[in-house]
Amino acid sequence: MGTRTEGLLGKLICVLLSCLMVMAAASSRATIMGKVSNTKFHHHSERLRRNLLANGLGKSPPMGWNSWNHFWCDINEDIVKAAADALVSSGLSKLGYEYVNIDDCWGEQVRDENGNLQAKNATFPSGIKALADYVHSKGLKLGMYSSAGYYTCSKQMPGSLGYEEQDAKTFALWGVDYLKYDNCYTDGSKPMDRYPIMTRALMKAGRPIYYSLCEWGDMHPALWGFQVGNSWRTTGDITDTFESVMSRADANEVYADYARPGGWNDPDMLEVGNGGMTKDEYIIHFSLWAISKAPLLLGCDVRNLTKDTMDIIGNKEVIAINQDPLGVQAKKVRTDVEIWTAPLSGYRFAVLIVNRDQWPANVTTHLEDFGIPPKTSVTARDLWEHKTLETPLAGNLSANLDPHTCKMYLLQPIS
Ligand SMILES: *[C@@H]1O[C@H](CO)[C@@H](O)[C@H](O)[C@H]1NC(C)=O
Ligand SMILES: *[C@@H]1O[C@H](CO)[C@@H](O)[C@H](O)[C@H]1NC(C)=O
Ligand SMILES: *[C@@H]1O[C@H](CO)[C@@H](O)[C@H](O)[C@H]1NC(C)=O
Ligand SMILES: *[C@@H]1O[C@H](CO)[C@@H](O)[C@H](O)[C@H]1NC(C)=O
Repeated sequence: MGTRTEGLLGKLICVLLSCLMVMAAASSRATIMGKVSNTKFHHHSERLRRNLLANGLGKSPPMGWNSWNHFWCDINEDIVKAAADALVSSGLSKLGYEYVNIDDCWGEQVRDENGNLQAKNATFPSGIKALADYVHSKGLKLGMYSSAGYYTCSKQMPGSLGYEEQDAKTFALWGVDYLKYDNCYTDGSKPMDRYPIMTRALMKAGRPIYYSLCEWGDMHPALWGFQVGNSWRTTGDITDTFESVMSRADANEVYADYARPGGWNDPDMLEVGNGGMTKDEYIIHFSLWAISKAPLLLGCDVRNLTKDTMDIIGNKEVIAINQDPLGVQAKKVRTDVEIWTAPLSGYRFAVLIVNRDQWPANVTTHLEDFGIPPKTSVTARDLWEHKTLETPLAGNLSANLDPHTCKMYLLQPIS
């Protein structure tokens, strides 16, 4: 009885407190807006204290396809349409792959007479609006690319520096759903000054557009990215090698505490299916991205998927780890043998054991490594074998791993 009354009282106080906090936040916001409009108000932390980006997107890491890793600049509207078709016909769209993202080199070298970006006539003759309509008609979303500089990284088209509002409006008019914003040919100012200008422009443009910051981890964007974008690159560009995958996963792990629904660390797009790694290495790549709550943006030619590639990128159980609503990024909990783990919703745990060495390894891990009390009985589901281990685990989990292979488990305590 006593505790119930205290509980109610506590709740009441909480409600009152949160009302007060909302009022306080509203009034300080009004003050800030006032200062912004009538003075040159450039104090950094004050500006970022508000959540500039309130677009409601990225509640789970985005999934889709991007043209860069396979096609580089060699793209056109037929490839993009065929990629959209392939996401649907392969069944990948049903698994959550919804963004069809065009990277660099989609535009004319110069803006039109009104200063608008224009699609490259030779390769995108129907224009981006028509392409967006097509992609939308398939139940998918269209992503575009620009740079917070005078040119994009290819230097084959203009960047959006100084044209943020105009370009954001153009993207919104075209029906764009996602913007990857690169960091080439800048004026030398800091990303944390340049990127929020596009945040504001997108918010004013009147269409929810997922905002992907791509400043390559230069200024630790995990520390300030949540107020500015829906995800932020933590690394330089990936290449189609095992070394590149592992180094990007490591660099990205450092910032695990900063990822959460609405804002994700981004170790760059997937290379699975591009041919530079073994199947086992691609399985490690995909598992690491999934457990790290990284965007799952396919970077291969989705028009021409092999069975091996489909087995990897189509693994529903691994995708479910990535999309889990708790949204907690994995950390490495042991480095003698490499063990990555993340808590999941419903008091479950994802575990990834990676043998990144050139020789076989027999690994025994302990439930305590994952934050599970040692005496607990735990069911273990092998997410690549698609099998639940016959006997529940008690205390230890052992695996014998060949070089460059991994094991991924979903653990669920049962007592
Ligand atoms: C676009 O290219 C076509 C030929 O591919 C040409 O006929 C047309 O004039 C061009 N349009 C513009 C606006 O440059
Ligand atoms: C399709 O993939 C296979 C094997 O990966 C490759 O040999 C072939 O050249 C590809 N076809 C096209 C049209 O890219
Ligand atoms: C791992 O264990 C297997 C059998 O359990 C054994 O044959 C093998 O030699 C062990 N390998 C290493 C590297 O310890
Ligand atoms: C778990 O592993 C530790 C050390 O490798 C060992 O001492 C212990 O007996 C194992 N416990 C079980 C239940 O297998």
